[in-house]
Amino acid sequence: MIHLALDTPVAKPFRPMRLGVIGAGWLGSAVGSNWARAGHQVMLSSRHPSRLAPLANRLGKNVSTGTPRAAANFAEVVLISVPYEPLPVLAEACGDALAGKVLLDACNPPWNPDHPLAQECASRGVGPTTQRIFADARVVRCFSAVDASRIAESWGRSSVPLAVPLAGDDAEAVAIAAQLVHDADCQPLVVGGLDTGVLFQRGTPPFRANTTLERLRRTFG
Ligand SMILES: NC(=O)c1ccc[n+]([C@@H]2O[C@H](COP(=O)([O-])OP(=O)(O)OC[C@H]3O[C@@H](n4cnc5c(N)ncnc54)[C@H](OP(=O)(O)O)[C@@H]3O)[C@@H](O)[C@H]2O)c1
Repeated sequence: MIHLALDTPVAKPFRPMRLGVIGAGWLGSAVGSNWARAGHQVMLSSRHPSRLAPLANRLGKNVSTGTPRAAANFAEVVLISVPYEPLPVLAEACGDALAGKVLLDACNPPWNPDHPLAQECASRGVGPTTQRIFADARVVRCFSAVDASRIAESWGRSSVPLAVPLAGDDAEAVAIAAQLVHDADCQPLVVGGLDTGVLFQRGTPPFRANTTLERLRRTFG
């Protein structure tokens, strides 16, 4: 049975962290940019790190670039924002470096319903599937259900923050994720354990609702 928490933790005082972003495309670069502006040390990663140099240069001294493996080694907390299909390959390449670390999973299941990972996500739920793939990481579903453009726009607009639903089984990991949502100038809404990620998966009302905390709470009923 799914337990709904719908709790919004109060932000603690800012503590700079080393954060890695695996997949610095639309979503990863939006979140990573906000974190760097907030004062975190961010490593953006790519299979072709040199392509990230212009963005890193614009963002300044808080941002470095590297491979996914380098970001996993560097960071205390990692955001993964790539297509879902390569997750098993990335787990093979970086899984050991992520052991014991908080892994913020923004990846949505494959569009092709016949893909084995789409089928596993449909039956098991996306959060538990990511946790199966990255068995030793502390997975939290986070930033998966909001638009990258809205995250980018939310920087500096804390008066009307964008609410970001998240779900995880590890209470300390969820608290860290909530703090990092806050540091990205958004507002966390903790929905419950990893299995509650199904409540804001693609196809549900909260998915891409891109709204305020109060309204997002209402979409969860
Ligand atoms: N865009 C949004 O608004 C949004 C919002 C919420 C969640 N999401 C989710 O976030 C994920 C990324 O979406 P996006 O829109 O940011 O996509 P994107 O702009 O295409 O970026 C995806 C990134 O993944 C990396 N990547 C692609 N194939 C890979 C592979 N085989 N192995 C390793 N890395 C690979 C690419 O990095 P390199 O090619 O540089 O290595 C690229 O930077 C998706 O799962 C999506 O559902 C997106």
